[in-house]
Amino acid sequence: MRFFITYSQPSVEKKALSLSKKLNLELFDDSGIYDTDSFSSDYFLVCKSERLILKKGLRKNAKPIFCDFDDWVSNYDDSLLKKALKGLPKKFSCLDVTAGFGKDSLEISKSNNCHSISLLEKASWMHALLQDGLENVTTPEAKELTMKFTLYNIDNLTFLNSSIKKFDLIYIDPMFYGVQRSKAKKHMQALRDLLPELKQEGLLKECLNSARYRVIVKRHKHMNYLEDLVPTRSVEGKVVRYDLYNIN
Ligand SMILES: C[S@@+](CC[C@H](N)C(=O)[O-])C[C@H]1O[C@@H](n2cnc3c(N)ncnc32)[C@H](O)[C@@H]1O
Repeated sequence: MRFFITYSQPSVEKKALSLSKKLNLELFDDSGIYDTDSFSSDYFLVCKSERLILKKGLRKNAKPIFCDFDDWVSNYDDSLLKKALKGLPKKFSCLDVTAGFGKDSLEISKSNNCHSISLLEKASWMHALLQDGLENVTTPEAKELTMKFTLYNIDNLTFLNSSIKKFDLIYIDPMFYGVQRSKAKKHMQALRDLLPELKQEGLLKECLNSARYRVIVKRHKHMNYLEDLVPTRSVEGKVVRYDLYNIN
């Protein structure tokens, strides 16, 4: 598996070149390439005039992967996560220490009680997709929710260790590497393919020190508790489980 940056039309070549330097990704020129099948397991960050997308393989019909906040506002609903948010104070602040595509952050922002949410993402290409997703929000509903977002391209432990700020809620969604590939949706599969498997020691303990009311950890339902710390309680669905660590 290789990871390149490319562009769809000459007008965005400059943008692609500058992103290639910034993200340290090789610029790929697909002109004259007919054997698209030999790139089927590679990933491409594609600069288009309208937005930035991620795609697996070079086929024209490969599904684009991007942060589609307009769609997720109305067509995605995680009732389990909503349950996990019950009991938080009015105007709560949230820190999502593993932002990814920002889908869970958007879900949290749908709570009327959520006032602000800071998203930490270490992978620069993922942060670029998040930033682009925010710039391309068009519906009033998605605009209202994503106004609560502040993005940071930073390692979460670096952020936590250098910040004295407390957050009412801290949300952790570590990668589920042990889970069968066929069951992962294309967004999550792309993250698994592109990110090295790294175990982060001490993240939950650090989050417990920086949270005022609760830390929520998303787990696959068969997984052990993160860092073997027993939660206050869990809400469990068919596939995932949210472990709730209430402070005091
Ligand atoms: C499972 S994904 C999160 C998916 C996210 N909840 C969503 O709704 O799209 C985990 C994300 O955490 C990021 N990540 C992993 N280690 C990190 C670290 N040390 N600091 C910040 N982000 C990290 C990964 O790059 C990845 O995007």
